[in-house]
Amino acid sequence: MFSKDLLKGKTVLITGGGTGLGRSMSFGFASLGAKIAIVSRKEENLKETVEDLRKEGHVAEYAVCDVRDPAQIASAVDALWSKLGPVNVLVNNAAGNFISRTEDLSTRAFDTIIGIVLHGSVYFSLELGKRWISSGSGGVILSIVTTYSWTGSAYVVPSAVSKAGVLALTRSLAVEWGNRGIRTVAIAPGMFPTEGAWKRLVPDNAFEDIMKSRTPLGRFGRHEELSDLAAFLISDGASYINGEVVTIDGGEWLAGAGQFNNLREMPPEMWEYMKQKRNEK
Ligand code: HXC
Ligand code: NAP
Repeated sequence: MFSKDLLKGKTVLITGGGTGLGRSMSFGFASLGAKIAIVSRKEENLKETVEDLRKEGHVAEYAVCDVRDPAQIASAVDALWSKLGPVNVLVNNAAGNFISRTEDLSTRAFDTIIGIVLHGSVYFSLELGKRWISSGSGGVILSIVTTYSWTGSAYVVPSAVSKAGVLALTRSLAVEWGNRGIRTVAIAPGMFPTEGAWKRLVPDNAFEDIMKSRTPLGRFGRHEELSDLAAFLISDGASYINGEVVTIDGGEWLAGAGQFNNLREMPPEMWEYMKQKRNEK
C-alpha cells in the first residue's frame, strides 16, 4: 500500500507500544523505515516487543515509564533521545479503561483513568512539544481516541471524559502549534480485538457478538487497517492534515453512538455479579 521507505528518517515514540494496537503500530511503522521508541509501565511487554522488532532487523529501544508521572516522562524521553536521536513523532496510545456503573466508582478510580489517558497525553505532548518548539524542528502528535470522545458513552465515563479531553487537546494545539511546524491529529478506532481491551470491556462471547453486530460492516477492525491509517497520518504524505480526527470503525458509531450504552439493559444483579468477580481476583 505504501512505498517501503515512507517513514524513513523518522523516530516514532509510541506510549503503550508493547501491547495491542501500540505493538501493531510499532511493527507497521518499523516496516516502513521508522526507528521505534516505546514506553509503558511493564518492562516485560516492552522488552519482548523490542526484541521481536530487532529480530526482524528494525531499530527499536524502550524505556519504562508511567505516563502519569512527568518526571518519569522527562527521563524516558532523555534516554530514548540519546539512544535514537531526536524523536519526530509522538503517538499517545497508552490507556486504561474498565466497565462500571458510574455510581460504583471511587474518585480514585476516576483519577486513575484520567491520569493515564488525559494527563499522560497532555504531559507527553508538552514534553515533546517544548523540545520541538525550542529546536525549531517541528513534529507530529497522533493521539488514539475513541468514537465516544464526542458522543460520550455510559459505563465507561472516566475514559469518555478523558478521551474528550484528548480530542480537545488535538484540536486546540493544531491551531496553537501549527505555525511551529507541529501537526496534531487523532484516530478514533471502533472495536479492534486486543487482550487489554477485551479482558476489561468484553465480558463474554455473547457480548462480543452484540458488539460485532453493532457494526454495519459486520466485523471487528484488523490491526493492520489501523496501523496503515496511522502510518499515513504521521507521514509527510499527510502534511496538510492538522487538527483532524479520522474515524476507523466500519460505520459503527453512526449506527448507534456510545459503544457501551446498550448495557442499560443489563439487570442490577448482573452488575453486582461483575463487581463480585472483580473483587475475587
Ligand atoms: C471499578 C475499578 C475497576 C473496575 C479498578 N478500579 N478496576 N473500579 N471497576 N473494573 C479502581 C480500583 O478499585 C481503584 O480504586 C482504582 O480504580 C485504581 O485501581 P488500581 O488497580 O490500583 O490501578 P492500576 O494498578 O493503576 O491499574 C490501572 C487500571 C488497569 C486502569 C485499573 O486496568 C490497567 O492497568 N489498565 C491498562 C490497560 C487497559 O486498561 N487497557 C484497555 C484500554 S482499552 P480504589 O478507590 O478502590 O482504590 C480502551 C478502549 C476504548 O481504552 C474503546 C473500546 C471500544
Ligand atoms: P492495551 O493493549 O491494553 O494498551 C494499553 C497500553 O497502555 C498498554 O501497553 C499499557 O502498558 C499502557 N499503559 C497503561 N497504563 C499506563 C501507564 N500508567 N503508563 C504507561 N503506559 C500505560 O489496549 P489497546 O486496545 O491496544 O488500546 C490502545 C489504544 O487504543 C488506547 O488508547 C485505547 O483507548 C484505544 N482504543 C482501543 C480500541 C480497541 O477496540 N482495542 C478501541 C478504541 C480505542 P503497561 O501495562 O505495560 O503499562
